[in-house]
This record gives sequence, C-alpha cells and structure tokens, in this order.
Amino acid sequence: MPCRSESVYAVGNKTDELSQDLPELPTAPNGTTVLVHCRAGFEREAAEELAGQAAARGFKGTTEARPGLALFTPAPPVALARIAAALRYADLVFARQLLFSSALCAGLPVGDRVAPLVAAARAQANRYGEIVIETADTEASKPLLRLCRGLTAPLRQALRSAGLLGDAPMDPAWPRLHITFLQSSSAVVGLSYPGNFSPWPMGIPRLRAARGAPSRAGRKLEEAFLTLLTADEREQRLRAGMVAVDLGAAPGGWSWQLARRGLSVTAVDNGSLCGEVLGSGLVRQVRADGFRYRPARPVDWMVCDIVDRPDRVTDLVVRWFLEGWCRQCIFNLKLPMKRRLETVWRCREVIGATLAAARLRHRLAFKHLYHDRIEVTGYLTRLS
Ligand SMILES: C[S@@+](CC[C@H](N)C(=O)[O-])C[C@H]1O[C@@H](n2cnc3c(N)ncnc32)[C@H](O)[C@@H]1O
Repeated sequence: MPCRSESVYAVGNKTDELSQDLPELPTAPNGTTVLVHCRAGFEREAAEELAGQAAARGFKGTTEARPGLALFTPAPPVALARIAAALRYADLVFARQLLFSSALCAGLPVGDRVAPLVAAARAQANRYGEIVIETADTEASKPLLRLCRGLTAPLRQALRSAGLLGDAPMDPAWPRLHITFLQSSSAVVGLSYPGNFSPWPMGIPRLRAARGAPSRAGRKLEEAFLTLLTADEREQRLRAGMVAVDLGAAPGGWSWQLARRGLSVTAVDNGSLCGEVLGSGLVRQVRADGFRYRPARPVDWMVCDIVDRPDRVTDLVVRWFLEGWCRQCIFNLKLPMKRRLETVWRCREVIGATLAAARLRHRLAFKHLYHDRIEVTGYLTRLS
C-alpha cells in the first residue's frame, strides 16, 4: 500500500530520541498533521511552540519531533482548512516553513514514485500554484536532496497533465504543493497557503556572498530584512539618506549591509572594523560600550548584534524605544543552552508589555533565521 491519503501520523509525546525511522503509523481519518521545518537541534522548541500556538487557538493534539522537523496532530482530527486558517507562519519563531498535510505516502515504489504522489496531491486539493519538493535540513537527509531535484520535473509534468498545477506564471491565490521526503520511500504530501509560508524551499534563502562583504554575519541582517519586513517596509524604511546605529558592529557585516543601501551608519564597537566598510564613506566608528552609547539625536534604525545575555539586550532595545532614540530596530538574542523557547517568550513579553504600558504602538516579530545559529532575530518597529 503505497499511500494513505487520509491520514496521519503516529505521534506520541516521546521526544527523548528524535526518530530517524518512520514508526508504524495509525490512521486518523479526515485528519490533518501540521509540519514545520526547523534548524536541526531546535525540534523540541519548534514542536512545543507549534503545540502552544495550536492550543491558544483551541486545538489539542500530540507533537512529534524528528530531525529537522516538528509535527503536530490535532486530536480529535480536524479538517485541513480549519487548522490552516488558525496557525500563522509569522508567529512561529522556530518554524522555517509551515505545512498542512492530510497524507503520508509510505512504501513509494522506486520505479514510480510519481503516480502515488500525484494521487495524494489530488486527494488534498484540486489546484496548486507551484510545487516544492524538499526534505529536512539535516546531514542524514542530504542524500535525499538529489532525489528531490530529480523528481521535480517529472512531478511537475504529471501534475500539469492531471490538471492539478497551473501554467506559469503561477497564480498566487493557489496553495503550493509541498512534498517532504522523510526517506527515499516515504514523503509527507502537504500544502502551504499564500501569505502564510516561507517563499524559499525548506525555508532556506540562498543569499549570495556580495562582493566586498566583510563577514558572513551580514547575511543574517539581509535575511532579517527579507523575512521580518514587508515589501512596503523594505521600500519605505531602508532608504538612502536614513541614519542607523549598529551596536556591536565589528568586523562590519551589518554596517556594510546598511551602507550598501545608502544609510549613514555609526558603528559602535571597541573591536576593529574592516577597512572596506570604513572606506565606503558612510560608516564611522565609535569605540564605546554599546550598552552605554546614546545617539546625539534620534535615528531611523538601531541594530544590535552584541553577544550578551538576552535579558540585557531586551532591556537595551526597550530603552531605545522608550527614550525615542530610534524608530525601528533589528536585534539578535543569543539563546542559552536550556529553556530557549521560554527565553524568547519572556523577552517578547517584556518588550510587548513595557511598550504597551507606555502606550507606544508597535509591531514586534521574531524568527529563528536560517543564518542564525543558537540565537533568534527580532524586529521591532513603531507604528504611527
Ligand atoms: C557577533 S559580533 C558582531 C558581528 C557584526 N554584526 C558583523 O556583521 O560583522 C559581536 C560584536 O559585539 C561586540 N561587543 C560585545 N560586547 C559589546 C559591548 N558591550 N559594546 C559594544 N560592542 C560589543 C564584540 O566586540 C563583537 O565585535
């Protein structure tokens, strides 16, 4: 039996060992499983956060963590459209991608994986705008990437022939079909909805190393701009002539990202900045403690990549907003080894509650970016 199109997955609350092999899976008729991709090592945080968001919307269920993935299965089972309308990708810090699935295809025949996958896709929706074939972002899953690449063209062709896939250019109103391979013989068939997914396969942006960039750290800020700001915000709030302060700036990757967009940057760090960054003419260095530095006049942006305790950085961000020193901020919270989810929740609560008490309208978002390691990135902006 290659495919179960109505059903879901064995889940328990076993999270001590992340299982690489698929266990025998019971069927939950008419059910849906929610699947998120995450960084390997953060599966428990992703699963707990997912279950927490589902519980807040009234869904009980069970979670399972697998390498690079977390799953939540509502119990009693619910229709895919119902839970999909309730969960938001943007609110899940540790989710790189958010998918809803009503089908696990197991025992896929080596010679013809396409036919059962198309059948499962048809059972789930009658039209898709695009197809993405992916796997977990783990060392063990790397061999599956070749299979994913090899199947993309034949699957796309078969879906078109079956009338399930629109012709290019894709209609943004249709869901995207996601096939997530767990093993070469088994895949989760799921979908993501417009406005509620990461645009990149497996939630991984492939950002090119820009010429002259002083460090890889700059890609973190670039990804933050792409992930946490809307297209309108990027256009309105990253304009040449704007002014930024970069706390913990050395060797200068973040300052360089700001300067290449034409912003003037004060880079605060006792460490040395790379010559190319200073040579841009838009970056000046101040050797000072970032926790004590204050700007002579309000600036458009404060960004902060200082490696310090998350509550210290949180207090710093709150202070900049209460004092009116900046309009928006991107900051990194370095996470402790334990209680990482609780730390993010606590910092989010402190910022939200303090600014609300000061009647300061704002938007706050966090994401565990692909370029983040044991840290998350926050974006805070005033709403006028
Ligand atoms: C992760 S690095 C920043 C990398 C930088 N964002 C880039 O793109 O190149 C952290 C920096 O914070 C600086 N730092 C640590 N404590 C600081 C403090 N209290 N004030 C200012 N800078 C600090 C360190 O000197 C270090 O250069």
